[in-house]
Amino acid sequence: MSTKTLRVNGSRLLKRLDELAKRGAREDGGCNRLAFTDADKEGRDLVTGWMRELGMKVSIDAIGNAVALRPGLPGFNDGPPVMVGSHIDTVRTGGRYDGNYGVLSGLEIIETLNDASITTRRPLAVAFFSNEEGSRVAPDMMGSLVYVGGFGLEEAHEAVTIDGKRVGDELDRIGYRGDAPLPGPVPYAYVELHIEQGPVLEAEGFRIGAVTGVQGISWTEVTVRGQSNHAGTTPMSYRHDAGYVAGEAAAFVRRLTKEMGGAQVGTVGYLTLEPNLVNVVAQKAVFTVDVRNTEETLLQSAEARVDEFLGEIADAEGVQISTRRLARFEPVDFDPRVISLVEETALSLGASVRRLPAGAGHDAQMLARVCPSGMIFTPSVKGLSHNPREHTDPADLELGANVLIQTVLTLTETTETDPFQAAS
Ligand code: HGY
Ligand code: MN
Ligand code: MN
Repeated sequence: MSTKTLRVNGSRLLKRLDELAKRGAREDGGCNRLAFTDADKEGRDLVTGWMRELGMKVSIDAIGNAVALRPGLPGFNDGPPVMVGSHIDTVRTGGRYDGNYGVLSGLEIIETLNDASITTRRPLAVAFFSNEEGSRVAPDMMGSLVYVGGFGLEEAHEAVTIDGKRVGDELDRIGYRGDAPLPGPVPYAYVELHIEQGPVLEAEGFRIGAVTGVQGISWTEVTVRGQSNHAGTTPMSYRHDAGYVAGEAAAFVRRLTKEMGGAQVGTVGYLTLEPNLVNVVAQKAVFTVDVRNTEETLLQSAEARVDEFLGEIADAEGVQISTRRLARFEPVDFDPRVISLVEETALSLGASVRRLPAGAGHDAQMLARVCPSGMIFTPSVKGLSHNPREHTDPADLELGANVLIQTVLTLTETTETDPFQAAS
């Protein structure tokens, strides 16, 4: 049979998505599988079990990345695989599609090929990378960054979570510190299917996004040390109020994005106060500043403006401010040949397709350091994500997985060393 007509089984994909969503399920229908927690382990156990049931050889490396391999034809079998994948960790208020959709669509492709008894020319790999979210412990995309050799394994193991645990200890505790080689084997190509997590495709009526790249990301942890004092008796001029500084910083970040306009975004998403009591002027505040832009020079100026603001308010309020960089990634462009291949494949399936950059970080931006990489987006209803109400229509989920299988089949059947001379 021509593989051109091969299509996934959408209801089987939805069933797996529902099953995985039961791991770390929230009462409001969302998912809470923060990296390296028991819930993350439950998700890992389920997905690696499915990988093995599908006849794949699963290898786990020392940061907990899982790569499942399906052999190719003899003669090609020892060549690098075409890899698909994403992540299965979630934020605390996650939905069921962010990351999970790309990994489970990979399994759906494998099962579709198994059902059709098709062996691809090149091997196929389905991967999930550890701690893509980075919200329990930075940086985000930690697992894929270690996989491509961009972050030291020791440094990753020594990283401490926001609840005070060492990543190395957590990996041991959940049983996912494996022994597969790091940096990981370089794939022939990498394609990641993911929900858009933004409003563009839905607002403009496109069903598929051919992702051009990922915007730059800058995460900074800010610690403000002031002086606790009585909320009632302390005259305002006597105060060194860390809580006030944190509030002003959040307001400044918002003003800065308005002033810069364009693609500039900024968020203060994490904030703790000490002693965090109604009648005590806060002596300490710890908060994060997440600023992003598609242009590196603009991102640098946003960072500089935040630093300048912090210096000024520290003097004015008489507090000490220290900062710690949690993550910093420059904008990434995906391989133009992969972008075009995604576009052509979507069009060949009759899908409306648009090019757009990714606003969120993705494992694909790390794989892009070592092999031709790209992404496929499907629309997010109301652009919502990192929210239990995250949703993508089943028909769009199925269409995205069909674009993925056909994109992958083109890549697996190429005969040239250059991966993009599609087989005639
Ligand atoms: O923060 C991000 O962009 C991603 O969800 N890790
Ligand atoms: Mn994601
Ligand atoms: Mn996410």
